[in-house]
Amino acid sequence: LPEYAFPRLRSLLDAHAPGGEVVHMTIGEPRHASPAFVSRIIAETADDFGRYPPNEGTPELRGAFTDWLNRRYGIDVDPETQVMALNGTREGLFNAAIALCPEKVRGQTPVILMPNPFYQVYAVAAATVGAEPVFVPATAETGFLPDYASLPADILTRTAIVYICSPANPQGA
Ligand SMILES: Cc1ncc(COP(=O)(O)O)c(C=O)c1O
Repeated sequence: LPEYAFPRLRSLLDAHAPGGEVVHMTIGEPRHASPAFVSRIIAETADDFGRYPPNEGTPELRGAFTDWLNRRYGIDVDPETQVMALNGTREGLFNAAIALCPEKVRGQTPVILMPNPFYQVYAVAAATVGAEPVFVPATAETGFLPDYASLPADILTRTAIVYICSPANPQGA
């Protein structure tokens, strides 16, 4: 796997002394304290941390996910088969490529499209499944949205997966 993005960024930036007041554009850790109820529940359930949780999460948790999707977006999702409990979205973005990417598309190497700039797990997932990552420009000319119309037909016919992020990180489109 390639070197992780944040150490690479640090080695590029650390070579330069800041010329003014520092603007932190680093890993994006939360700047605010967790809500008090979160710390309280973690403390109350600390004894359970010694056990592996069920892979798929508890039925109550999955039901809370699907209830929220219904309230927020008005959609019905089956808590038994259509949601997973994950330790962060990165895990799901990676697993999705493993679950969904075929070995070949029309006898050729599959393509995974990702916006550029992009979140690095898309490229790591593509490398892991042996797909060709194709970085789709998301520049000012297209309102910072990925310019799929710029892609040649050869790429589009081999495309197996498209990663999109709304709103996009880092450009917010
Ligand atoms: C666009 C994007 N996707 C996914 C992630 C991963 O987030 P998580 O902490 O939920 O794994 C990040 C984290 O910064 C992100 O910026």
